[in-house]
Amino acid sequence: MVSAISRPAEVSVPSITTLYQQVRARTMQIVAPLEIEDYVIQTAEFMSPPRWHIGHTSWFFETVLQKFQPEYKNYSNEYLFYFNSYYEGFGARIERPKRGTRSRPTVAETVAYRSYIDEQMSRFIRDVSNRDDAQTVLAIVRLGLEHEMQHQELLVYDIKHLLCDQFDAPIKPAPQSIENVGGMVEIEGGLFELGYASRGSSPTVREGLRAESGDGSPHSKSYDFAFDNEKPQHTVFLQDFFLDRAPVSNGEYLEFINAGGYEDFRWWHSAGWEKVEQESWQAPLYWEQHDGEWMIRDFAGLHRVADKLNEPVSHVSFLEASAYAKWAGKRLPTEAEWEKAATYSQALNSKQDFPWGNTGPDETKANLFENGLWGVGPVGAFPAGQSAYGCQQMIGDVWEWTTSDYAPYPGFKSEFDEYNDKWFVGQKVLRGGSFATPRAHIRSTYRNFFYPHERWMIAGFRCAKDK
Ligand SMILES: [Fe+2]
Repeated sequence: MVSAISRPAEVSVPSITTLYQQVRARTMQIVAPLEIEDYVIQTAEFMSPPRWHIGHTSWFFETVLQKFQPEYKNYSNEYLFYFNSYYEGFGARIERPKRGTRSRPTVAETVAYRSYIDEQMSRFIRDVSNRDDAQTVLAIVRLGLEHEMQHQELLVYDIKHLLCDQFDAPIKPAPQSIENVGGMVEIEGGLFELGYASRGSSPTVREGLRAESGDGSPHSKSYDFAFDNEKPQHTVFLQDFFLDRAPVSNGEYLEFINAGGYEDFRWWHSAGWEKVEQESWQAPLYWEQHDGEWMIRDFAGLHRVADKLNEPVSHVSFLEASAYAKWAGKRLPTEAEWEKAATYSQALNSKQDFPWGNTGPDETKANLFENGLWGVGPVGAFPAGQSAYGCQQMIGDVWEWTTSDYAPYPGFKSEFDEYNDKWFVGQKVLRGGSFATPRAHIRSTYRNFFYPHERWMIAGFRCAKDK
């Protein structure tokens, strides 16, 4: 069955100026509870010190200023070196594992750099509509804001690794489970249009933005956005399959642990069993055993798993998710199966932007960063967000591992060098966003990617099964 996005999202997105201010402010809101000493520590090679994130997201915008303002003078060559992440095209940079080995630039100097870039950028955006290349420029500014929202989520992961329950997160109370959500739904196979459908006459993100008027008042325009790796939309064939209605819960995962799942090589890929043996994995990251009982440490404190049985399991690697699925007699879904379950409506014979329809997320439909939970919600807490097939919590709570390799879609065209294109090897695709993902940043077609062994991200999974 062929499907297509029926109409553009009705997400109310502010002008690029307002969006710029909101996104930049939120980064600083996230780090606000940190003490000065917290900003410079690197607790593992895979995480980055918070000071580095607030500088790096400014560095990204400085590269925009460099490119589009010939008279622009670099703020500091030292900062260009320290705050570049992995871009070969932007010159030499500090090695990632060494980001926590320097106390300079200081936090105050980094914040001053950030303010300077903000001043420059607000002037730059204000004057952009006078330029012939306004669309191109605005598309890159938007990419910079999406990039910053990615780093906001990484900041949450990294602060959790750094401080966990010592961090004074402004946590709101979690909602109650409203519905029992169990079992699997059957989803018919056939042809499916995978990926983001570019809207309007132009096929790329570059034209997906609208310039702001010279007087600062935004035109009422769509700010549709998707990364290049979500495009082009293309036809794939799916077999009939079953998919879990809910993410796998801590309670279900605990059964796997109690059944000796981490002690039986039969459930594991070779790479997974190697990790189990080398790193003595016995449970997800942030699970601790106290007097023989499994506990979970999160931003809110240390809890008995017994009190969190109905919450989606998180901080599991692809290797662990796969082992659980095999043990359960199931498998992980492909990203195409996941996306069909999340977006396709048989009744409408079309693909929708989100599981619940074409409106953007709100707090009743999905647990994203603005919900303020700083943790997962219980299974069954967001029935208003269910897909046409009856799957719940596909958006928010935990990114969901798929079995799909992160690779370019047929017809892929890179829209920004070294952003997505250079990572197309060895990683797995995750879908749906987490409680740390900003609402404006998530889409059903969004392809996140991590290495199969990584588990410091907010990642969980749901299982599929062949018919
Ligand atoms: Fe980055």
